[in-house]
Amino acid sequence: MGLTNEILKRRTFAIISHPDAGKTTLTEKFLLFGGAIQTAGAVKSNKIRKTATSDFMEIERQRGISVATSVMGFEYKGKKINILDTPGHKDFAEDTYRTLTAVDSVILVIDSVKGVEEQTEKLMEVCRMRKTPVIVFINKMDREGKDPFDLLDELEEKLKIKVRPLSWPISQGFTFKGVYNLYNKNLNLFEENKTKISGNYIKLENIFNSEIDSFLSESFVTKLREDVQLIEGVYNPLDVQEYLNGNIAPVFFGSAINNFGVQEILETFIEIAPCPGKRVAAEREVTAGEPQFSGFVFKIHANLDPNHRDRIAFLRICSGKFARNTFYYHTRVDKKFRFANPSTFMASEKNLVEEAFPGDVIGLYDTGQFKIGDTLTEGEQLHFKGIPSFSPEIFREVVNLDPFKTKQLDKGVRQLTEEGLAQLFIQQPGNRKIIGTVGQLQFDVIQFRLEHEYGAKCNFSPLNFFKACWITSGDKKKIEDFIQRKFSYIAFDKEENPVFFAESEWSLRMARESYPELIFHFTSEFKTGKVLQNQNAF
Ligand code: G4P
Repeated sequence: MGLTNEILKRRTFAIISHPDAGKTTLTEKFLLFGGAIQTAGAVKSNKIRKTATSDFMEIERQRGISVATSVMGFEYKGKKINILDTPGHKDFAEDTYRTLTAVDSVILVIDSVKGVEEQTEKLMEVCRMRKTPVIVFINKMDREGKDPFDLLDELEEKLKIKVRPLSWPISQGFTFKGVYNLYNKNLNLFEENKTKISGNYIKLENIFNSEIDSFLSESFVTKLREDVQLIEGVYNPLDVQEYLNGNIAPVFFGSAINNFGVQEILETFIEIAPCPGKRVAAEREVTAGEPQFSGFVFKIHANLDPNHRDRIAFLRICSGKFARNTFYYHTRVDKKFRFANPSTFMASEKNLVEEAFPGDVIGLYDTGQFKIGDTLTEGEQLHFKGIPSFSPEIFREVVNLDPFKTKQLDKGVRQLTEEGLAQLFIQQPGNRKIIGTVGQLQFDVIQFRLEHEYGAKCNFSPLNFFKACWITSGDKKKIEDFIQRKFSYIAFDKEENPVFFAESEWSLRMARESYPELIFHFTSEFKTGKVLQNQNAF
C-alpha cells in the first residue's frame, strides 16, 4: 500500500474529559467495537484513581501501565484508528496538553449531570489554541442530567466554540428512550446493555411520518418533533470544513457504559475526522505525504524497572515512512541514531514495529538522548512547533539533603524534568533550583524517584508564587532593565529563557502596566519563533 493510502487510512486522536465524565469507558467501548479487546475492564486498570492521590507508588505503577496503553490502535471499517491515552488525574494535566500536540483531532466527553467542568475548559483552551477539530460526546444520558438545550448553550459559552448536535436524546434518566441521529436520520432505541453493542437502529427519514408512533409513545414523539424542529431552525447543517478548521463541534448524546450512542459517534468520526495532514515546523510546513520521514517526541516515560535507567520516548510520525534499524537524524544534537526495537503498545502487549506511517506513534528506547520536543528527520534541519511548556502553578525550591550526592541530585532533577514531569528553573545567586508543576503529586513522585533511582535525597521548600511567565520583547534593553529591577523574581528555564515569577495576579498586572514593551507568555510556545533566528538554540 502506498504512502498516500496509509495516510488516508489513519485517524489519530485523543479522548479527553474532566475526571469521571467517562473517558475510560468510552475508550473501552471503542476498543470493543474495533475488536481490539474482547472484554470490558481491560482499559480500566490504566486509570489513576482519585483514591490514590497520596499514594505515589501506586500512581507510578499505574503510570507504568499507562505506557502499555499509551497508544491504542485498532482497525474499524478499513480505517486504522490510533487513540492516544491521556491521564485523567488533574495533576498530570501537562502530560495531557502535550499529548494533544500529537493528535489530529479530539473527542471531548461531557457528563450530562455535571455539564462543562473546570478541567474540560482548560483542555479546550489547548484545542482552540491549536485549532484541533473537536467532536463532543455528552455521556450518562441514562441519568437525570441537565436539559440538552442548556447543555448546548453551556458548551458554547464556556468552551467558546460553536456546536451542532448530530444526534438528539429522547428524554433522559429513568425515562431515557434513545437518540435520534440527525445526521444519518435513524432512531436508536435505548436498552441497558453493558456488554453487547447496541444495534437497534430504525431508519426514519422523516420523524413527522406516523411510522415513529409504533416505537415511542405520543408525548415522546411530540417532544422529539418539537426539539428537532427547533434544532433545524436554530443550527445550520454541519459544515464539515468548519469542523476541520476547529470552529464548530458536532455533538452526540449517549451512554458509554451502556454502549449506547457510541457507534453513532464512531461512524461519524471515521467519516469526518481528519487524517494526518500538515504540521508546522519552525522552518516550514511539513506535509504528511512527503516521502522523507519526520517525527517528534511528545512524551518520555521512565522505564518501570528501576534497574534499567532507560526510558521510552514516544514519537509521533509526521511525514514519510519510518523503518526499523534505519539511521535518522536527531536535529537538536546533530547526530544520527538508529532504533533496533521500536515498539507499539496495546493493552499490556508490546510489539516490535518494522515500519510506521504518519499519524502513528511509536515507542523508542531512550538512554538519555531525547528531550520532549526533539525532532527526527532523514537529514533536514526541522524543529516541530507546538510542544509548549505551560505556566506551572505550584513552585518549590529543591533543598539538597545529602551534599555528597549533589551530582546525582543534579542529574536526577535534570532527567526527571526532561521527562516532562515538572519544569525546572534556575535562579541566581547560588544556582537555586526551582521546580514548577501543575499539581502537588509530582513533588511526591520526584522525591521518591530521586531517592530510588538516583540515590539522592531532597526536600522542597514552598515558594509563594502565583504564575511563571516567560518574557520577551523586541527591545533587548527593556528585558535587561526588567531583569535587573526584578532580580529576585527572575529565573531561567533550561534553555536559558528569562522567566518572571509573579507573586499575585496584582503584581503581574502591575508588571505588565509598567513594562508595556514586554510580552508575558503563559506558554513557552513563543520559543520556536526564536529557533527561526537561531537554529541551534532549541
Ligand atoms: P474517566 O475515565 O473520565 O475518569 O471516567 P470513567 O470512564 O472511569 O467513568 C467514571 C464513572 O462513570 C464510572 O463509575 C463509570 O462506570 C461511570 N459511567 C461511565 N459512563 C456512564 C454512563 O453512560 N452512565 C452512567 N450512569 N455511568 C457511567 P465508577 O463508579 O467511578 O467506576 P466503576 O466502579 O463503574 O468502574
